[in-house]
Amino acid sequence: MTLEEYLASRRGLVDAALEQVVPSERTYPETIHRAMRHSLFAGGKRIRPILSIAASEAVGVDIAGPQVTGPLVAGAERSACALELVHTYSLIHDDLPALDNDDYRRGRPTCHKVFGDAMAILAGDALLTLAFRVLAELPDVPSERRVRMIVELASAAGSVDGMIGGQVADIEAEGKKIDTTYLDYIHRSKTGALLRASVHIGAIHGGANPEQFAALSEYGFHIGLAFQIVDDILDVVGSTESLGKTAGKDAAQQKATFPALYGLEPSRAKADEHLTKAVEALLPLGDNAARLREIAERIVNRSA
Ligand code: IPE
Ligand code: IPE
Ligand code: MG
Ligand code: MG
Ligand code: MG
Repeated sequence: MTLEEYLASRRGLVDAALEQVVPSERTYPETIHRAMRHSLFAGGKRIRPILSIAASEAVGVDIAGPQVTGPLVAGAERSACALELVHTYSLIHDDLPALDNDDYRRGRPTCHKVFGDAMAILAGDALLTLAFRVLAELPDVPSERRVRMIVELASAAGSVDGMIGGQVADIEAEGKKIDTTYLDYIHRSKTGALLRASVHIGAIHGGANPEQFAALSEYGFHIGLAFQIVDDILDVVGSTESLGKTAGKDAAQQKATFPALYGLEPSRAKADEHLTKAVEALLPLGDNAARLREIAERIVNRSA
């Protein structure tokens, strides 16, 4: 299977799992479910759930699923979809007028533009809480693993070195001169933590041993940072059309970004450094980590 086929197949599994866990648009009260689905099914890359599945495949027992042409650890897409729920909530709230004030996301008007601020806030809240229910109710996963996954997700989304902490630092840094330590904190927390947790959750699902977990964790750390550095670069060099979100917003809002602090070329070099370290971290996993290596390369060389 080529990387393209692999990504498409895992995206399909994640979308099908999301379809099962998210209430239909006809479920009362309909407005909130329409708002949740508006943002969720708008065509995101699904990189976090795919990473999670790939991590479980790198350590888990492979079984051939009927709808895929490669190895898949049973049920990994269900735990992975919790990550997409939290990620989509974070995007809806990130776009609110009180935060980044964005009108366009995933090629559509943002949630609050269509449904209003109140419903967008509530749609984010509902996606977040649903994610924890999904993990708590994972079928055929021992309770000890489910609890570990819940702790991973709660920590990564939280205020201490997690997404909320990073979002706070991101907002407080607007218009200010900041140093590299502060910028690293923003990236590690607002974006890196959830990407790393995606890898952790897949590793837990697949039953990684401590050595495998440590290798995957190191990989997750570096691709998490690389991911946000590239997001910052694309905001400068990408187009609104190709990104599906408004380009050039970071400079307009005087955000603390890698290109703003270091310039574009040094930022690219930083992303490449993290890619090298991510790939090195996979060495103990041997050939089983081939997909994770390809995904890391894609993350750094992506154009959207
Ligand atoms: C965008 O994430 C927000 C960041 C954390 C940088 P993605 O680039 O993964 O967005 P989607 O999910 O593909 O829309
Ligand atoms: C978003 O960072 C991080 C989270 C959503 C937690 P950005 O503000 O850079 O993301 P985009 O560029 O709007 O997608
Ligand atoms: Mg933001
Ligand atoms: Mg934003
Ligand atoms: Mg950005």
